[in-house]
Amino acid sequence: MSCAPVQIDNSMTAELPPDLSIDYHLDLLATGVVLLDADLHIRALNLSAENLLEVSASRALGSPLEELLEESNEWYPLLNQALTENYSMVRRAIPLTTRTGQERTVDVTLSPIAGKVESRCLLVELTMVDRLQAISRDESEWQAQATLKEIMKGVAHEVKNPLGGIRGAAQLLSGELANPNLQEYTDIIISEVDRLHTLVDRMLGPRERLESEPTNIHEVTEHVRQLIEAEAKGELAIERDYDPSLPDFLADAGQLTQAVLNLVRNARQACGDAGLITLRTRVLRQFTLGGSRHKLVCALQVNDDGPGVPEDLLPRLFLPMVTGNAKGTGLGLSIAQRIANQHGGLIQVRSSPGDTCFTMLIPMET
Ligand SMILES: Nc1ncnc2c1ncn2[C@@H]1O[C@H](COP(=O)(O)OP(=O)(O)O)[C@@H](O)[C@H]1O
Ligand SMILES: [Mg+2]
Repeated sequence: MSCAPVQIDNSMTAELPPDLSIDYHLDLLATGVVLLDADLHIRALNLSAENLLEVSASRALGSPLEELLEESNEWYPLLNQALTENYSMVRRAIPLTTRTGQERTVDVTLSPIAGKVESRCLLVELTMVDRLQAISRDESEWQAQATLKEIMKGVAHEVKNPLGGIRGAAQLLSGELANPNLQEYTDIIISEVDRLHTLVDRMLGPRERLESEPTNIHEVTEHVRQLIEAEAKGELAIERDYDPSLPDFLADAGQLTQAVLNLVRNARQACGDAGLITLRTRVLRQFTLGGSRHKLVCALQVNDDGPGVPEDLLPRLFLPMVTGNAKGTGLGLSIAQRIANQHGGLIQVRSSPGDTCFTMLIPMET
């Protein structure tokens, strides 16, 4: 079995000198790129992939991947899953041992190239990372989040106390005002105090305790889909690509709804009502999250074809008050991430113009 030949539109490149060919560009990438066919034979690879796997292209082309990589590598099941289920995935800091015994750590992006299962190909992107660096990167993110939460708790307390006083005083004042026209002003004070109060509560994030019950994730996604479609007054269509075999699992359905709603609202803001939003669910098996291995993990993706997340926001995207929108609060994603964390999961993002994907991963304790 082999991939259909890749069609490259030469009309765009015909005028270019040979050293500007697409192959030449692929060889300039720091990322290793490997194209596998449905039997996991190598169909193409760039220079970085040759270096990373310690093999020459002439030797690698047409060879089965297992000739280049130890079979103990934990990502064979991932490759097979991505191929059979036609599902893109990103995994960070995965160990990889070459046949020459070199140990590496890579971030892996798997993108199946659609087609029938037997003729499907898999594009594998490999970025070398230092495992320790990757772990400490995650840990320092957690530390930063924890410190920030402590600061916010303190600030919230200091702000909410006087707010109660201001609201009470405004109500008393409103009752004493002889001129009813002046009440407009006390009403403004009261409604602004209430707005600040809600904002502070939202900054603090979702309640700490989950009210878990057996939850059907598709009831959650369908609820959100109907809400957003109603908000868009029928102008927006949200596509669904659900895995119906996904079992119910213990979760706080109300909180998950909030998290998914935040992701889908952002997607709608990004791509507008003419855009395409897709909700996708899948089951991942034997998946490691936050250091513990889970038998089953629910992956829920919110995909949109909008312009993508601004690059400068990406590293800080899940921190509170980070927004690219003049009217935004920057709280939506931090709240969604907190909810996922409380469920023992997390939200990941990958984004490029025309293709942004937020993936919520939640372990399923059925
Ligand atoms: N699907 C998306 N496409 C492009 N940008 C996004 C997307 N989701 C989030 N963002 C960016 O992330 C920022 C933060 O989102 P969020 O935390 O929900 O706060 P807010 O929506 O209030 O700005 C957004 O302002 C936007 O710039
Ligand atoms: Mg938002």
